[in-house]
Amino acid sequence: MEKIALITGITGQDGAILARFLLEKGYEVHGLKTYSAVPDMERLEEISKDITLHCGDMCDGASLLRVIEKIQPDEIYNLASISHVHVSFEMPEMVANVNALGTLRLLEALRIMGAQSGIRMYQASSSEMFGHAGVPQNEDTPFEPCSPYGSAKLFAYWSVRNYREAYGLHVSNGILFNHESPLRGEEFVTRKITKAVCQIEAGQREILYLGNLNARRDWGHARDYMRGAWMMLQQDIPDDYVLATGKARSVREFVEAAFDETGRKIRWQGSGLEEQGVDTQSGQILVKVDPALFRPTEIRQLLGDASKARQELGWQPEISFENLVAEMIAQDRILPFGEKKKIYAV
Ligand code: GDD
Repeated sequence: MEKIALITGITGQDGAILARFLLEKGYEVHGLKTYSAVPDMERLEEISKDITLHCGDMCDGASLLRVIEKIQPDEIYNLASISHVHVSFEMPEMVANVNALGTLRLLEALRIMGAQSGIRMYQASSSEMFGHAGVPQNEDTPFEPCSPYGSAKLFAYWSVRNYREAYGLHVSNGILFNHESPLRGEEFVTRKITKAVCQIEAGQREILYLGNLNARRDWGHARDYMRGAWMMLQQDIPDDYVLATGKARSVREFVEAAFDETGRKIRWQGSGLEEQGVDTQSGQILVKVDPALFRPTEIRQLLGDASKARQELGWQPEISFENLVAEMIAQDRILPFGEKKKIYAV
């Protein structure tokens, strides 16, 4: 029989990618969609006829229970979250409400449904929970979150573990390191870079402004990571898994790789706020630092060790960093001027 999945956060990058993945596997796919005066349905346009959306919100526990009772899913993927770390410093209470309490509300709904309902839940936990912890980070690394986003995600993480133990629920945490794709929102650094690089290439822009160029992240492809999320729920025993590539690169290196795709080499000159990225051939200044883009506290480095997922799930990333950057550039090149894009065949 066809399995039924409910995805919260279905309108985001991961939701749209997971929805496609599950449809290809023959699932009946449902999504939870919050009310919005201007609905953000762009990423779901091409599969809108194949999925069913339900009105509900992570801040409204009764709406979650009602949707779950109605569709009786086999699997729930909790991807809903306010996912921008910098924004969480501006709206910490809202972020805690959605990311932390929202997960608790979902767990309460599952508790009411009862363990015998057999519903399995995936929680989108984040490497941001590691914060200042040393690298490499795995399931045994003590968490040291250093943003309201990271703290809220940590509350959700522990709630999942607690509900698993206390009520026998089949709930698992995927501790995912940064994962990108052409569907990534433009407020995240990778997509901001690939879009700007394509605009510069098209002569539509001169300079890319960035914050901390030294930050190091373990960047993978969202398609690989959503496959891993699904694999976690296929386990008979729920557990927590890190998904990562095991390689960290700096923002500076991402910039170099993106420009490289358009045939430009970057030389760095100056330091701190005065640092600039210069086209080695033309001498044109292409990258500058904007202090407004720095965060009050920042994770210097995230680098994951996904040995457990590799050994127990048989998961490993298949898309290289180079191919990720190339795919993002290729997509942003199609329409570099901010027009509506048809980019959903990811
Ligand atoms: N967004 C952004 N914009 N980040 C910048 C910029 C800029 O102009 N300049 C430098 N950075 C640095 C940030 O300071 C951070 O160190 C790094 O680039 C990555 O930033 P983001 O792409 O915004 O991602 P993130 O690491 O903060 O969070 C992402 O990954 C988490 C998993 O580790 C998000 O997807 C989170 O939702 C996710 O949980």
